Amino acid sequence: MKLAVYGKGGSGKTTLSASLLQFLSYFCNFRVLGIDGDHNLHLANELGATETDMQRGEQGTARDIGNDLEWLRAYFAGNNPRITADLPMIKTTPPGEGSRVLKLSEPAEWRQRYVTVIDGVELIRVGDFTSEDYRKKCYHSKTGAIEIFLKHVWEDSNEAIIVDMSAGKDVFASPLPTLFDGNIYVVKPTRKSLANAVDFLSHAKNFGVSMLVVATDISNCQEVAAIESQLERPVDGIIPHDPFFMQRDSLLLSRPPHVREASFAVLDALYNLTDLLRQLPLHDWDKILTRMLYHHEETAASWAGDKFNEQIQPGFNPFKHVKFEVSV
Ligand SMILES: Nc1ncnc2c1ncn2[C@@H]1O[C@H](COP(=O)(O)OP(=O)(O)OP(=O)(O)O)[C@@H](O)[C@H]1O
Ligand SMILES: [Mg+2]
Repeated sequence: MKLAVYGKGGSGKTTLSASLLQFLSYFCNFRVLGIDGDHNLHLANELGATETDMQRGEQGTARDIGNDLEWLRAYFAGNNPRITADLPMIKTTPPGEGSRVLKLSEPAEWRQRYVTVIDGVELIRVGDFTSEDYRKKCYHSKTGAIEIFLKHVWEDSNEAIIVDMSAGKDVFASPLPTLFDGNIYVVKPTRKSLANAVDFLSHAKNFGVSMLVVATDISNCQEVAAIESQLERPVDGIIPHDPFFMQRDSLLLSRPPHVREASFAVLDALYNLTDLLRQLPLHDWDKILTRMLYHHEETAASWAGDKFNEQIQPGFNPFKHVKFEVSV
């Protein structure tokens, strides 16, 4: 499954992303890949990365996908003849014949270039702004790397890719949310967090993106009731207020504790949430392809230019050629 975690700044996105990654890896035996989609690069730390993890031995530190777009585009384009100097890969370009459409588990060059392994969890990062970006680029130009990556790398049913997103509604300026099987909005029981949730969820509804809501930092059922009443919908998951999460952000500990050290209440909550997530429908390839082509045509019509429609190969489904354990 592919999941994205959204929420107001400080609402618990990174905490939940890291907890889910560790829980799925350690307790459910999933292969997991976290993507830090925020320019405040906190996910590695939250997963307990050490200097040694980040150095990756002889390989050296991993590159950030958002700052390596030229290589990323060329790599996934493979020898697709519809991607040329005149018609370069853009964020919405669908994979075609010759493109590299890969399984998450297969050994591949992108892994050596981008992945850092932290206690069984794989991590890639979009990356921070560089000195060349100042006054020239917004963060969108970098999160486009996530769109390209997610369209070319596909997971089996016992694998998960989780993206810890940056706060804000900018994500609706792209089709990125439509690439996930589950979009999770995290909300804390505070006025501001809830106000943001109401606003974000109404945008999601207008854009036809369905969202799961996870209430976190919850101390009692009145808080859940207040959130549900304001949102006019039930929440899909509840994560308790728990010292385990506060320890994870404590200055006094050299490394955040792993989820295997969490309290029963935390484990129970994560169990219930992952149980729900595992029931999400996966890989309706026809639907996935139809949506990708629609967004590419939309982009061609709005700003890229009609000629980009030539990147669509009529009748070709790039996903039918990859052997997945889940039904194709
Ligand atoms: N269930 C919880 N119980 C107690 N504290 C929590 C809980 N969830 C999150 N927190 C605390 O809330 C703070 C913010 O969490 P986190 O960094 O995950 O938010 P974020 O949404 O990723 O923030 P940013 O937008 O800055 O990236 C942290 O100190 C974290 O420990
Ligand atoms: Mg964060």
